[in-house]
Amino acid sequence: MLEVRKVAKAFDGFQAVAGVSLAVPRGQIAAIIGPNGAGKTTLFNLITGHLRPDAGAVLLDGRDITGLPPHDVCRLGMGRSFQRINIFPRLTVFQNVQAGFISHRGRGLDLFSRVGQLYREETEALLESLGLLDRSGEVSGFLSHGAQKQLELGIALASEPRLLLLDEPTAGMSAAETRETIQLISRIAAERGLTLLFTEHDMEVVFSIAQKITVLHQGRVIAEGAPAEVRNDPEVRRVYLGERR
Ligand SMILES: Nc1ncnc2c1ncn2[C@@H]1O[C@H](COP(=O)(O)OP(=O)(O)OP(=O)(O)O)[C@@H](O)[C@H]1O
Ligand SMILES: [Mg+2]
Repeated sequence: MLEVRKVAKAFDGFQAVAGVSLAVPRGQIAAIIGPNGAGKTTLFNLITGHLRPDAGAVLLDGRDITGLPPHDVCRLGMGRSFQRINIFPRLTVFQNVQAGFISHRGRGLDLFSRVGQLYREETEALLESLGLLDRSGEVSGFLSHGAQKQLELGIALASEPRLLLLDEPTAGMSAAETRETIQLISRIAAERGLTLLFTEHDMEVVFSIAQKITVLHQGRVIAEGAPAEVRNDPEVRRVYLGERR
């Protein structure tokens, strides 16, 4: 479903992503791990069109999407969430997810319906499946950090993606929130037949749900494979898990 071919990106001569290739088949749950500054977020930005690669290509369903702007990439079925929370803090929970539907499907031709009613059913159904329905009237900026991350997931899902990229979906969460969020993501991915690519620092999360793990270090892939293989890879243990030689 997703193929990344030798993408590279430098910032002022600093090579943040140095020729990364990877493939995610349809239906897979894949993780990208690596220490701080490894290039994970930059790689996501190259995949989603938020950054243009200096070299290389990104293919979605075999179609070359390199250099397409983010909204076009999103329209083709790729959704994402951000490492830093990216919601409208003054809007309610309902309005945030509804805005996701409106931006994805448009206002339609029904110019006389009240904006508040647009995609009400879809929005409520999605909030329900996220466990946020009883909070739909709350102002988003006042939600807990964990609830805001879940809301962000809702906004990403409102664009009805087939491939979803999540950049540290449990960052800053308590252990309980993390567990809950991971269950939520796994359930939603299964229900919707989503293909998932996520980055994560919490190794328990990674090893519990990822089917394939790609390890980045200094902008390069240093290991890739099933969780058990990656866990035992000596190079990974050295650079990432902090083991000494
Ligand atoms: N816009 C930018 N301008 C300059 N340097 C950048 C920019 N974005 C990222 N970098 C640098 O590129 C490198 C990779 O950053 P990136 O955010 O992709 O890492 P990461 O793997 O997501 O790290 P973390 O685990 O901390 O989120 C870092 O050294 C970072 O400082
Ligand atoms: Mg990052």
